[in-house]
Amino acid sequence: MSPDPFRPVLPADFRWSAATSGFQVEGSRTADGRGRSIWDDFLEAPGAIKDGSTADPSCDSYRRTEDDVALLAGLGLDRYRFSIQWARIQPEGKGPANTIALDHYSRFVDALLAAGVTPFPTLFHWEMPSAVEASGGWLSRDTAERFAEYTALVAERLGDRVKHWYTLNEPAMTTLQGYAVGTLAPGKQLLFEALPSVHHQLLAHARAVQVLRASGGVQLGLPNNHTRVLPLHDTTEDQQAAGIYDLIHNRIFSEPLLAGNYPDLESLGLPAMPVQDGDLAAIAGSIDFYGINFYNPTTVTAAAAGSPIPFDIVPTPGAPVTDFGPEWPIMPSALRDFLIELHAAHPQLPPVIIGENGAAFAEPARAGYVQDDDRIEYLSGHISAIAEAISAGVPVQEYTVWSLLDNWEWAEGYTQRFGLVHVDFDTGTRTPKASYHWYRELIARLRGTG
Ligand code: NOJ
Repeated sequence: MSPDPFRPVLPADFRWSAATSGFQVEGSRTADGRGRSIWDDFLEAPGAIKDGSTADPSCDSYRRTEDDVALLAGLGLDRYRFSIQWARIQPEGKGPANTIALDHYSRFVDALLAAGVTPFPTLFHWEMPSAVEASGGWLSRDTAERFAEYTALVAERLGDRVKHWYTLNEPAMTTLQGYAVGTLAPGKQLLFEALPSVHHQLLAHARAVQVLRASGGVQLGLPNNHTRVLPLHDTTEDQQAAGIYDLIHNRIFSEPLLAGNYPDLESLGLPAMPVQDGDLAAIAGSIDFYGINFYNPTTVTAAAAGSPIPFDIVPTPGAPVTDFGPEWPIMPSALRDFLIELHAAHPQLPPVIIGENGAAFAEPARAGYVQDDDRIEYLSGHISAIAEAISAGVPVQEYTVWSLLDNWEWAEGYTQRFGLVHVDFDTGTRTPKASYHWYRELIARLRGTG
């Protein structure tokens, strides 16, 4: 293995993690009283899922918890980012907890702790009980209260052992893809009318944080999906288009959390946020760390006159791509530059946690071995980029690979594989890839124990 380039700037106490989410890996969609969620509904719509699959059994992780814990312990991770399914805890989206499901997650937390891995659960990873969506979902302010009630049920049972929590995963994707264009659940196509879902998610996060702090949570935050936005041409039109995209993808989430205000929406002709007294103060005081999920830059050009949205997303010139194609250009320097620019805009940035980073590449399983060099190069490039950002003073403290396991990639079904571990979805067999061994050795070396 080549000498590692990260040691001078990644401190020995830098933390390492890997992630999955409940709906993507657990399977067992009707086990132990689980209710229906918006993803059970969405995947039934004709043509919604590329390969027509369901997320069951996927990795069968609801039943194969021992296998997953052994893989995590084998990596020597500090933490595991997994998610709790709301529809398991409150099958109808309200009322008392389904204790069988809480028992399940409680045993899982114990198993992680026994293996020396800190549990770092997400409370909402895109899976909302259908009943909550039926009463408005994230377009309704009341959903923030429903989310706080669900959080209280989970915290009451797990809060004695779980001290690190992510509240909502990537609210930008829920707004943009779930409510604006409809490529993710709940599949609405409201364009800019989707924007109130931004505020209601941030409010839900803030309400959940109040509950978790009261139960002794010590490290609380949410992972925003961020991208570095690049204008295709150096023209005023493309720079304006890039500015609008940057605002609705990045700044509309980062600024209320870091600066206590939404960027100016009205001057762009966008609807104002449905803010009430006290909301912004609650949101601004709500994070102990700033979570960032980062995969790729986004190149933007001005849309043709008459288009309902003022920008077009186009391939990034000259960048190699993952298996998603031009939608997912590979450019690690975009992560470094995004971090440095965020820090410059917000000098009081709290500790940063990279909550997801990874890439989909198809690799055939060959006689029990998968040589995924593309993934190793992608991860290594992004970890180097983080090291450079740390050298420039950005307080990044933790890195999380998406994903521990190949899993069910939402509307892409099983067609995109992100795992450090190959999963045979017919048998559930897990096969660590070359990237798994590479990540394990990297962690041990940087800690000085390998
Ligand atoms: C973001 C999401 O949080 C995760 O669920 C998804 O699988 C990955 N990105 C890859 O698309």
